[in-house]
Amino acid sequence: MIRVVSVVLALVWGEAVYAQAPAAPVVQPRVYANMLQLMRGTLYPQSNVIFTAQVEDPAAFKPAAHQSTSSDPFTSAYGGWEAVENSGMAMAETANLLLVPRQCSNGKPAPVQNADWKMWIDELREAAVGVYKAGQAKNDDVVLEAADKLATACLHCHAKYRNVPGGNVNRC
Ligand code: HEC
Repeated sequence: MIRVVSVVLALVWGEAVYAQAPAAPVVQPRVYANMLQLMRGTLYPQSNVIFTAQVEDPAAFKPAAHQSTSSDPFTSAYGGWEAVENSGMAMAETANLLLVPRQCSNGKPAPVQNADWKMWIDELREAAVGVYKAGQAKNDDVVLEAADKLATACLHCHAKYRNVPGGNVNRC
């Protein structure tokens, strides 16, 4: 009888301890890339999917011999129009990474808090969702419109914050 009571108490006590345990520490995002590395590693390959879809029919790509390891989204296991959808979602998520404080390639903090930076992130998000929808619509006109919106979103931010290609001013 005593044994049973102590087991019950232990259970109750255990639960109480559990309820009072401090919340697990918040896991912070860890930053590895500077802004230039992030652009080259994410938005550049992601956006090339819709830019290619402007000139080539996504459904016409022949699946790669080794689809599961193909480095071209169009010929991969998630190829064709699905590649367009997936790149749209990837860019929408990448927009979040562009708001995480990190350095520019010139070593200065990236201007992620600036109102116009945030505004252009919103524009990028909207354009990325447009790319996703173009992948679902499977329609040339929708693709052209989505690609145009996306290119404009890139351009707006680059006009202010990206280096002039070949120039020696580092504006980021
Ligand atoms: C909110 C701002 C912003 C948006 C939106 C943005 N970029 Fe950038 N991008 C930058 C900045 C700033 C740099 C320069 C980063 C540095 O030097 O650290 C850059 C650099 C780049 C580079 C590297 C250029 C080089 O010199 O090698 C590529 C590629 C690039 N962006 C692609 C894109 C594409 C494609 C899009 C749209 C789908 C896009 N970016 C949207 C801010 C932006």
